[in-house]
Amino acid sequence: MVELNKELDKIFQSFNNNSIFKDKSPLQNSYQPEDIPHRSEQITQVASILAPVLRGEKPSNLFLYGKTGTGKTLTIQYVKNELLKRADKSLNFKLRIEYLNCKLKKVSDTEYRILAELIKKFGGEIPSTGLPTQLVYDKFIETIDSEKQLIILILDEIDQTTKKISDDFLYNLTRLSSELTQSKLALVGISNNLTFLDEIDPRVKSSLSEEEIVFPPYNALQLQDILTKRAKEVFKEGVLEEGVIAKCAAFAAREHGDARRALDLLRIAGELAERDNSNKIKMKYIDEANEKIERDKILDIIKSEPKQFQLVLSSIISLSQKNPKEHIFTGEIYNHYRDLCIKNKLEILTQRRISDIIQEFDMLGIITVNVISKGRGGRMREIKLAITNDIIEKAKEIIQNSITYD
Ligand SMILES: Nc1ncnc2c1ncn2[C@@H]1O[C@H](COP(=O)(O)OP(=O)(O)OP(=O)(O)O)[C@@H](O)[C@H]1O
Ligand SMILES: [Mg+2]
Repeated sequence: MVELNKELDKIFQSFNNNSIFKDKSPLQNSYQPEDIPHRSEQITQVASILAPVLRGEKPSNLFLYGKTGTGKTLTIQYVKNELLKRADKSLNFKLRIEYLNCKLKKVSDTEYRILAELIKKFGGEIPSTGLPTQLVYDKFIETIDSEKQLIILILDEIDQTTKKISDDFLYNLTRLSSELTQSKLALVGISNNLTFLDEIDPRVKSSLSEEEIVFPPYNALQLQDILTKRAKEVFKEGVLEEGVIAKCAAFAAREHGDARRALDLLRIAGELAERDNSNKIKMKYIDEANEKIERDKILDIIKSEPKQFQLVLSSIISLSQKNPKEHIFTGEIYNHYRDLCIKNKLEILTQRRISDIIQEFDMLGIITVNVISKGRGGRMREIKLAITNDIIEKAKEIIQNSITYD
């Protein structure tokens, strides 16, 4: 107990004498920085497309896309605020700009849920279940059409709606405008799924993307600018070892120019320094932070995959731990997987499906696959685990839990 208390003293003390962070709040997701470097082009484009609302005219529907962490949400929130600041209250219509993140838990599970959420946003009310869908649409129209207003509805992570619901929802939404008599509705869709538009009903596509704006990935230098600005607000002076920002930027630039990743690296490195009682963020903390992010990402994937996927991984792990130096072959994995299915009373998938799953592991960087030719057009795939031992141990735990409970 004495030992433990000493340890706690140390932890709390280092927390008290926090010598790294000045203010952690600018690292939160919801933080809206005053300055948005390297996005002025996108910001002005969005602003000029939406500007007609200030005169009471319906703007074109707009679609924003680009990889994760390229500033899409930040940009639209910024333009939204700027438009609202400039809305002329003396005009004979009201301007409403509503933002909905379709990825939020439960929001886009069903057409009913998302409509209920929208109705609530616009001040209406419906029971949480039970009405026929057509009635819910009618209720939505009634709610937004009850007064003369111009509405911009921003649907962030809009691809989530077709993932769980179907194209119908977006189709109905884009058709809804024609039923409004008093109000006008413009849609802004946002997605980091670059092929989303090509996967949906062409009629929805052409309506949703009357205008399109691409958010390109940031390069390492641009990420440095973003990080430098944020670091000034977050860290005490002089805590950053030389080269730390450049290193975070370089790592994140490799991850398709993701600013969120860059900021996460910096935050985690700061937390590691703090935990270490160091008053400097050293280069090594960036490496550790990067490893931690990679590890968490892989473990999250493993956790969220179906049992069959987990059993295949479990087979690969068992086989490679039995013979650490050897490569493993698809056939062996399949036999091992089949035994596991029998043992756990699970359906056995075909070899073909297992090959697909193995390919997916390859893409995720969990394994490496080496195709070797065996003459006469025959080929074999040599498989090797590509994750470190501590991830392997955690993965085993996750899989064990998933198979035992549930
Ligand atoms: N140009 C920028 N200046 C300052 N901060 C930025 C900039 N671009 C992105 N960020 C920051 O990076 C993080 C990710 O940005 P944002 O949420 O806008 O990305 P996104 O494109 O919407 O990504 P996703 O597709 O994953 O939703 C946020 O914390 C945001 O504040
Ligand atoms: Mg976003």
